[in-house]
Amino acid sequence: MLAVAVLAAGKGTRMRSDLPKVLQPLAGATLVERVLRCCDSLQPDRRLLIVGHQAERVEASLAAHHGLEFVLQQPQNGTGHAVQQLLEPLQGFKGELLVLNGDVPLLRPETLRQLLDTHRRGGTAVTLLTARLEDPSGYGRVFADEEGRVSAIVEHRDCNAAQRDNPLVNAGIYCFDWSRLAAVLPLLRSDNDQGELYLTDTVALLGSALHLEVEDSAETNGINDRLQLAQCEQVLQERLRRHWMAEGVTFIDPASCTLSDATHFGRDVVVEPQTHLRGACRIGDGCRLGPGSLLENATLGNGVEVLLSVVREASVADGCAIGPYAQLRPGAELAAGCRVGNFVEIKQSKLGAGCKVNHLSYIGDAELGENVNVGAGTITANYDGVRKHRTVIGAGSKTGANSVLVAPIRLGERVTVGAGSTLTRDVPTGALALGRARQLVRENWSGPQTGTTPAAPAS
Ligand code: UD1
Ligand code: CA
Repeated sequence: MLAVAVLAAGKGTRMRSDLPKVLQPLAGATLVERVLRCCDSLQPDRRLLIVGHQAERVEASLAAHHGLEFVLQQPQNGTGHAVQQLLEPLQGFKGELLVLNGDVPLLRPETLRQLLDTHRRGGTAVTLLTARLEDPSGYGRVFADEEGRVSAIVEHRDCNAAQRDNPLVNAGIYCFDWSRLAAVLPLLRSDNDQGELYLTDTVALLGSALHLEVEDSAETNGINDRLQLAQCEQVLQERLRRHWMAEGVTFIDPASCTLSDATHFGRDVVVEPQTHLRGACRIGDGCRLGPGSLLENATLGNGVEVLLSVVREASVADGCAIGPYAQLRPGAELAAGCRVGNFVEIKQSKLGAGCKVNHLSYIGDAELGENVNVGAGTITANYDGVRKHRTVIGAGSKTGANSVLVAPIRLGERVTVGAGSTLTRDVPTGALALGRARQLVRENWSGPQTGTTPAAPAS
């Protein structure tokens, strides 16, 4: 049997945040979600999360993780005290217990698997992950012999000067034989600098411990402050970009772009500088994104271009070109071959294939048939101050520059709207609609003269 416990009760004082540390986001997922995801790959029989500081908030954030057992640690008196809370829920449990700090989010599933295998082969009471760091400050130092047998872990603040020189650090990830751990947990004492119960002290109490040193020390980066949060974000971003480069995506300036785990690219996509993908974006083959674009939960077909634009919760079919300076807001759905140009905003609207909205428009709550040409500055006036109303424009219609379509309104197919029109009534198929004051021209008009009363215009 295999149980996994994640320690997530601490406050994270060094973050100086209202948010519990384990809920800080990293490339779109919280620290604790990342740790749990890593554990899930081993399909453990039990999954326990130790919560304490803002316990309800942490629990609520993980509501979608079924089968997770929340164990309350109140007050939070150290990592050893946290694991003591498992004595009751794991009473009678036989097997291994993996313990992971909730603030070590870069661990790979392969490494966790390797830790479990090493532990099973070694037959010791505990096996722990270690890393050799150039700057080990802050971490507990691990004292071990050539064969990897660990004698003790000493926390940074409890180390003397000679001990601090030891570059081998405790990653905060352990595989215990549960029965043996359960026997020594009650023996922990708080005679250390912080006056807490340290899980690391069980190592000396157990008398038989091995360590497994990770190859890539970035995997064991712990997050205690914002600097470490930023460093981990960089590591994750680098991993994501490398993964997608291997899958056939070109990044012109990789370090200037950010991705989320849930991003998916087709082949031969080019990502230009300063382009960011958040949430679950799906990008088709041969797209060109950026420079300077933000996509969030966007779905793009093949061969789509997005230049200096924002696309959020929107879908764009094959061959569309967006931007520069366009904004597709939630519910924008563009069929193939549409062109959306500068200073155009589209919200909750469907555009048929081949539509053109090239300049300075707002299209909201609208449905456009195929090949509609929206003139510069055309606006759908969709809001009467209380409710939103729909605009429907039939296939092949053209709106003139600076026209206002006051919704609810329906234009048939092949309608032409004269420039500067404000339309408030439906227009049938094939019609021309004009809704503007007729032009007035006065010839030889010199305008009012100073000191004279202007003559009334002849009508
Ligand atoms: C801990 C280790 C240290 C190791 C480092 C790796 C101990 C005593 N020290 O130090 O050897 O090098 O991790 O990152 O274990 N937590 C609780 N309840 C508590 C206290 C903490 O659940 O009462 C949780 C925290 O939410 C956090 C994790 O345990 O997720 C680690 O706590 P933290 O205070 O960050 O330990 P470190 O000082 O980093
Ligand atoms: Ca920590």
